[in-house]
Amino acid sequence: MGEDVEAKIEEAIRNPRNLGEMENADAIGTVGSPDCGDMLRMWIKFKEENGRKVIDRATFQSFGCQTAIAVASVATELLKGKTANEAQALSGEQLAAPLGALPPVKIHCAQLVEGALRSALAGEPQTAAAPAGPTLLSQMSEAQGAGKVKVVLNNK
Ligand code: FES
Repeated sequence: MGEDVEAKIEEAIRNPRNLGEMENADAIGTVGSPDCGDMLRMWIKFKEENGRKVIDRATFQSFGCQTAIAVASVATELLKGKTANEAQALSGEQLAAPLGALPPVKIHCAQLVEGALRSALAGEPQTAAAPAGPTLLSQMSEAQGAGKVKVVLNNK
């Protein structure tokens, strides 16, 4: 991985933006990677701006690798002010663009973020209180117990 990309990923992990669950989210999307078993959940809140419905805030919780956390951190910043259609059009590569070009082996980490975003935008509006089966945390705790993933929690 290029030193520059690596430095940006490290910086994003040291100070991840928009990490944590969002209360009263308008949309929630969760996705798991078939490649590595990592998971990511994204919450989105919309607002009206100049007659358009745009993303006010997006947050995430990741039970995944550091690259996925870094991509989610920059992507949730990137999403602010975008309409659902504009957000939907973004590829994993575009979501990760602030970090620079990811090496091929890390592309699926950005796709995990893209998948969570698409899942949120495709879903019916739901609230954080909506019953959604086992929580991501309980699913991941199980996986962690099995030694499959590393759980990173942050309640900021
Ligand atoms: Fe699985 Fe990065 S290694 S998301």
